[in-house]
Amino acid sequence: MVADPWHFKRGEFTSRVLTLLIDGPGQALTLFAPRRTGKTEFLLKDLAPLAEKRGHRVVYASFWQAPLSPQAVLLHALETSLQRGTFRDRMRSSALALAPKLKLSAPGAGMEAAIDLTAIRGRPPADLLLRLDDLLDRVSRRRKETILLLDEVQELARSRDNAPLVAALRTSLDKRSGRLRTVFTGSSREGLAAMFSARQAPFFHFAMPIELPPLAEPFVDHILAAFHKVALRKLSRRDALAAFERLHASPYFFRVLIEQLLHDAGLDIGPALAGVRDRIALDLGYPDTWLALTAIQRATARALAGGADQPFGQPFRRRVGGEIGEPALSAGRVQAALRRLERTGLADTYTGRWALVDPEFAAWIREHAT
Ligand SMILES: Nc1ncnc2c1ncn2[C@@H]1O[C@H](COP(=O)(O)OP(=O)(O)OP(=O)(O)O)[C@@H](O)[C@H]1O
Ligand SMILES: [Mg+2]
Repeated sequence: MVADPWHFKRGEFTSRVLTLLIDGPGQALTLFAPRRTGKTEFLLKDLAPLAEKRGHRVVYASFWQAPLSPQAVLLHALETSLQRGTFRDRMRSSALALAPKLKLSAPGAGMEAAIDLTAIRGRPPADLLLRLDDLLDRVSRRRKETILLLDEVQELARSRDNAPLVAALRTSLDKRSGRLRTVFTGSSREGLAAMFSARQAPFFHFAMPIELPPLAEPFVDHILAAFHKVALRKLSRRDALAAFERLHASPYFFRVLIEQLLHDAGLDIGPALAGVRDRIALDLGYPDTWLALTAIQRATARALAGGADQPFGQPFRRRVGGEIGEPALSAGRVQAALRRLERTGLADTYTGRWALVDPEFAAWIREHAT
């Protein structure tokens, strides 16, 4: 498999993270950043290859909208990591063959028992947790530390059913702190707090938080260079940088734009931008998301999109009330609307104040939503 020519390597950052993970004081890191900022791409295309090159075994598991339960996802990732082949080969084949039945190699005896991963639901039975511990032990029997990359871990905090799994994981990792290192990533601060920062959280003080640096000009230059090679035409660097900024410095949005320009050789950045923003709105389901909100939630979202960030203050409550034809709303009703927006991942207090999570959705609301 050839390296992805579009991938912009986070070279210096990657080696810094790996050094911190292996030689640092802790046994785990958390990497939390908003949606579509490049966390998964960093794990799979930067960190994993470098770690493997340095002789570490790497295991990747993502809990995002997995068709299997979290414990099934973990068991599968661990088991396949025992197979031969490079991380990249394994990622490719395991994605293709996420077989519902997995042959779990039985501890010790060399016997194999097939278990139906799709049948694992709800609270994990104790023997599966033992299986998990056994597998963690076997993947970590190497001279160099084994690295677990656990993506979208906030999903584990969504259901109480996962509590025994999370607790077992914590214990298993603790037991092997010298041989296992973990990177947890996710996009929800709220979900993260439930696992890592609340005093009663299972991973309280377990992991050290690191920030994913935002992509900037060098990323745009890299994408432009890749574009020039493939498309055999040049784009204006100035327009590209302006578009990147217009698209909230999002690598995902910028690549949607570039894809559009690849498809249509006659198109230029300026004219393409409007079409791309329409496409993003459809791809990410902005209109549907909007329609699913109640009147109060919409009015609240609109106020946030307009930059209002004191939702419990009189002006905000009066504004939201005015929109739905009522006097100033009570703080409690605004609070309920905010909680709902937070639970659906639309708003959070990531920056220290209430705001919509996706700046493009905020722009869409300002421009389209009535
Ligand atoms: N280093 C990079 N080089 C090139 N493209 C990138 C890079 N990082 C991110 N992208 C682009 O942005 C998209 C989103 O990145 P990615 O899926 O890694 O984000 P994420 O933070 O994991 O998002 P989510 O929260 O939705 O899981 C990628 O599919 C890719 O197109
Ligand atoms: Mg991701």
